[in-house]
Amino acid sequence: MTQPELILKAEDIHKSFGSLEVLKGISLEARKHDVISILGSSGSGKSTFLRCLNFLETPTSGKVTVHGEEVLVKNGKPENARHIEEIRSHLGMVFQQFNLWTHRTVLENVMEGPIQVKRESKAEARDKAEALLNRVGLEERMDMYPSQLSGGQQQRVAIARALAMEPDAILFDEPTSALDPELVGEVLKVMQDLAAEGRTMIVVTHEMGFAREVSSEVVFLHEGRIAEQGPPAEMFANPKTEEFQRFIAKVM
Ligand SMILES: Nc1ncnc2c1ncn2[C@@H]1O[C@H](COP(=O)(O)OP(=O)(O)OP(=O)(O)O)[C@@H](O)[C@H]1O
Ligand SMILES: [Mg+2]
Repeated sequence: MTQPELILKAEDIHKSFGSLEVLKGISLEARKHDVISILGSSGSGKSTFLRCLNFLETPTSGKVTVHGEEVLVKNGKPENARHIEEIRSHLGMVFQQFNLWTHRTVLENVMEGPIQVKRESKAEARDKAEALLNRVGLEERMDMYPSQLSGGQQQRVAIARALAMEPDAILFDEPTSALDPELVGEVLKVMQDLAAEGRTMIVVTHEMGFAREVSSEVVFLHEGRIAEQGPPAEMFANPKTEEFQRFIAKVM
């Protein structure tokens, strides 16, 4: 059987901040429809790794390939930096703190990228934004400002905004960690729907239910390295490393 298309490939990613080596050589492949959960203790390098994939951080060394466009980094210098914009345009990102534009309405938040970056017409961007907001259950909230919404609603706007750019994969960095417990479910539900429709997702999360039941693969980071990786059923039933055993015991 042929494997699904390769969407993203990270090879031997290293990242240091001064003398602190945070990522010690991480490689990861995401194929179309993969939902990869990245787990690990605080400070293990999860956010840094995710940010290196779309060059919000420049790795110290390594190679990132997205949609066939590759950027090789040596000594903190990207060798084909002109591909960075290309890579970014194929990756959506959803942050813990939503990062919505506070002075724009919900609808404008979702329309902005397609108009500015993809040069879509206003009418086209509006139609698409309305459909996406409908899908995440916010059809009643389109003309409100982010501050008028709950955290869960704001995060659903952020997801709609990412989807509006029609990315090949979406990166999520702890999308539910800033939410009140009763709002976590509505965001996880949207993410689960995205997974079910075959979206390619890389998700840093502390939600073990999501990691176990929704993801196709789990990656456990420990001190800047992948300590363990595999299908969730196997990994949770039979953790191989002491680090992952300890992590599971702590969080479950
Ligand atoms: N811009 C920066 N400058 C200096 N050190 C940084 C920077 N960003 C991250 N670090 C350090 O890198 C290490 C890994 O941070 P990172 O944010 O990737 O961890 P994490 O796994 O996402 O943790 P958490 O679960 O708390 O979000 C930490 O020791 C952190 O202090
Ligand atoms: Mg983090």
